Amino acid sequence: MDEDEAATPYAARQRFWRGRDVAFTPVEPDDAELIHRWRADPVAAHEIGVWPGSLHELRERVEANAEDRHRDDFLVLLADGTPVGHIALIEEDFVDGTAEAYLLLAPEHRRKGIGADALEALTDLAFGELPLHRVEAVTHTDNAAALAVLSGAGFVREGVRRSSCLHRGRRHDSAVLGLLRAEWEALARPRSWEH
Ligand SMILES: CC(C)(COP(=O)(O)OP(=O)(O)OC[C@H]1O[C@@H](n2cnc3c(N)ncnc32)[C@H](O)[C@@H]1OP(=O)(O)O)[C@@H](O)C(=O)NCCC(=O)NCCS
Repeated sequence: MDEDEAATPYAARQRFWRGRDVAFTPVEPDDAELIHRWRADPVAAHEIGVWPGSLHELRERVEANAEDRHRDDFLVLLADGTPVGHIALIEEDFVDGTAEAYLLLAPEHRRKGIGADALEALTDLAFGELPLHRVEAVTHTDNAAALAVLSGAGFVREGVRRSSCLHRGRRHDSAVLGLLRAEWEALARPRSWEH
């Protein structure tokens, strides 16, 4: 499938939120196949902290997530509608004002600035539209791409969960990062609604 074919069904999707070059559209059950492809290999699974399951299981999870009032899931779209990744605020707690960021890009769309754009847009949504106070992210300590993109969005490294995951025969540590509302407010960059 070339990029034009991939974009066609998505070009008409409602753009709920925008970043500099990307837009977010809510995940629908029929997106499960696309997301399943992105998270199917064990390396991607390790990067996002899940093990790849069946399409059937993922579709059920996507449907359940749509009903879950404690998370917001989006596909990341390019300007022409090409879907390039899945981004979400999960574990939203509107009493304590906390949530966790989730981001997975298709391998062929990495290292083009899309992750940075999308993560900034997600934090703008969390602090500019939702009354969150803290967004957390967890990734293993040798995920250089995730650590770079999180640090670029202002996330501060807070600690390490030692020996918290297994990959390719050895245990890995996970880094815990957080971005607080006051830190987001202090960032000297345009917000999503200013692009
Ligand atoms: C992590 C991820 C979202 C990054 O998105 P991306 O679009 O590839 O990153 P960008 O192109 O926006 O790069 C942002 C920064 O990270 C750096 N970076 C990106 N990939 C990198 C890599 N593999 N190694 C080192 N640095 C990297 C870029 O140089 C850039 O740094 P800069 O701001 O100093 O220029 C993407 O690699 C991905 O989906 N990975 C798999 C899932 C995952 O790990 N999710 C994170 C879980 S918290």
